[in-house]
Amino acid sequence: MELKHWKLETDGENLAWLWFDRAGSGTNTFSSEALRELRQVADHLLAMPPKGLAILSSKDNGFAAGADIQEFTTLHDPEEAIAFVALGNEVFDKIAALPFPTVAMVHGFCMGGGTELALACRYRVMDDGAKSRMGLPEVLLGIVPGWGGVRRMPKLIGAAAALDLMLTGRAIDARRAKKLGLVDAVTPRRHFQNAARKVLNEPPPRQVPGLMAAATDWPVLRNLVARQAAKGVAKKVRRDQYPAPYAIIDLWKDFGGDVRNVPREHPASTASLFFHPTTKNLIRIFLLQERLKAFGKSPSPLGEGRGEGSADAIRHVHVIGAGAMGGDIAAWCALRGLTVTLQDLAPERISPAIKRANDLFRKRLKLPHLIQAARDRLIPDVAGNGVAHADLVIEAIVENAEVKRKLFAQVEPRMKDSALLASNTSSIPLQELTGVLQRPDRLLGLHFFNPVAQMQLVEVVEGPQTSPAAMQAGQAFTRQIDKLPLPCKSAPGFLVNRVLSPYLLEAMLMVDEGIPPETIDAAAKDFGMPMGPIELADMVGLDIGWAVGRELATQGTPVPKKLQALVEGKKFGMKTGQGFYTWANGKPQKSQTGPGTVDLKALADRMVAPALNEAVACLREGIVADADLVDIGMIFGTGFAPHRGGPIATIRQRGKQDWIRVMNELKEHHGLRFEPDSGWDLV
Ligand code: NAI
Repeated sequence: MELKHWKLETDGENLAWLWFDRAGSGTNTFSSEALRELRQVADHLLAMPPKGLAILSSKDNGFAAGADIQEFTTLHDPEEAIAFVALGNEVFDKIAALPFPTVAMVHGFCMGGGTELALACRYRVMDDGAKSRMGLPEVLLGIVPGWGGVRRMPKLIGAAAALDLMLTGRAIDARRAKKLGLVDAVTPRRHFQNAARKVLNEPPPRQVPGLMAAATDWPVLRNLVARQAAKGVAKKVRRDQYPAPYAIIDLWKDFGGDVRNVPREHPASTASLFFHPTTKNLIRIFLLQERLKAFGKSPSPLGEGRGEGSADAIRHVHVIGAGAMGGDIAAWCALRGLTVTLQDLAPERISPAIKRANDLFRKRLKLPHLIQAARDRLIPDVAGNGVAHADLVIEAIVENAEVKRKLFAQVEPRMKDSALLASNTSSIPLQELTGVLQRPDRLLGLHFFNPVAQMQLVEVVEGPQTSPAAMQAGQAFTRQIDKLPLPCKSAPGFLVNRVLSPYLLEAMLMVDEGIPPETIDAAAKDFGMPMGPIELADMVGLDIGWAVGRELATQGTPVPKKLQALVEGKKFGMKTGQGFYTWANGKPQKSQTGPGTVDLKALADRMVAPALNEAVACLREGIVADADLVDIGMIFGTGFAPHRGGPIATIRQRGKQDWIRVMNELKEHHGLRFEPDSGWDLV
């Protein structure tokens, strides 16, 4: 048997060991070729049955990441998609039907098709390592776990728990997987061979859900459980915008979890889902996310390769400014394993940041020895002694160019020769900060977003003098701390704030016209934004919004009166309890009156059009390299309607002529801020 992607060995005890080792890739994914080979293996084993079969991965990073998403993009008609889905089902059904014990030995990540293969085995054993994760994230790509996931997982752990995992796409660690009954045993990877032998030689009873969990999959309760699940989904997403979670529920409730039973014209069918615009956009986002990750990987021009995992990776970060941003950047870096010194003007300015860091460590690390180790890595440093030892100094002090320059003049002479200097400035072009530096080539922007722990994007900003080596090292560092780097040119607002600003401005001008904030927010959510602009502004802080708005304003930009009054009255939004909304327990108190007969689409157009126009201007100015990066930056930096695929995709989907028409109509009513940019031809 000729195999490219699998290795099959049978040992002296007649146990078969099947290693998944996808050729030409560091990660195991299921291409149709890999699936066809697995079918061959299953047929062979059926003809010459071993005593048992263990399936393992030869890759260090994990068992399998799921279906080959690149192959998805080559499926151009429904027949091809249906055939790909049918192939996976056929092969995993063959594995499930093997007449001897089978066990999946799972380490690292086990996602989508990987989990579905594991579910097709009689037993599952999972490595207890920190990186082990199991899940069915298909919903995040707009599709369903169609290779048996929706059939098998509810039977194994009960429908309620299975739906929760499938509808959120959440991946769980080994402890949680064991608790749910998703895996039979948890053991370190170094014991895998023995653990597999034990399971195959003395097969234990198969995992079955407890009575309560099993009941959720009983036909009599199915409608109730499905209704409950659909209610939960409806609170988060709309069916026309995100059909996949609704399809998962329908598939489980009405079709026995088997995609092959779904009529072609049903919204849960493979043909309907694969070719829905949302799915196309979500798959594109996934691939673009991989592109951002790759920015951190290319070999460093610094020579020895300062990239992720290299011997020359950043080990010590010194953060100056322990406020909202600096404090949280320091905490995040310590969480990700770096030594961090944190400087501010006085100890009492650092202590709130340390307290927040401890909360983060507790929440994310859970185990006391890991929490303690992270605490030990984060060192308050009022004197700034860390500067001399750091590989990277990040400045996050007040947004004032003069103050930043003064600080740089003091700090730079004490830095190591090889160290990088970064500013977290939101709006000051780097060229305004370089005058005092002896080595302006090593200054770059690392623009994090608030809240640091939740926002994945970091704009890595290149000033006119920043060296390619510094840019590359900044991108590698961003990956090292598990964020997504977006290389940007240094111009006011970079990409994200610049595109977001006109959208927020327009929303606030509507408030001045007497449109209720609730209606404005509803219009934006209707468009597909995760949160309305007024709620967002209140959350970020109106003082910050005001400062950034002033920085980015050009001649003729109107000033929102209500915003000005709130800022003058020190009503900054969530943090002060009062902004456009009154805030209680971290939530805005919204009136429930509803929008009435207001045309929400027209309101959304009015807010979104200037943002699209600004996105076009960024493209024209080359703030980021291409349209894909504009889209992915706005999606990860602001949550810009993912199902629409970002601003440029939004323009292309509806047609640029139509958007230009909208802009021109708005210009007639509201003035020159709606003048279409000269770059629309580029879209
Ligand atoms: P903040 O006001 O919360 O914190 C600034 C801290 O810097 C204060 O604790 C202050 O004591 C300290 N500081 C001031 N001068 C100092 C000096 N010479 N030496 C040491 N410490 C000094 O400000 P925030 O919001 O954290 O912003 C910091 C930077 O991050 C600014 O450049 C801002 O534009 C940028 N930024 C802010 C975002 C936000 O949402 N707040 C988002 C992204 C970037």
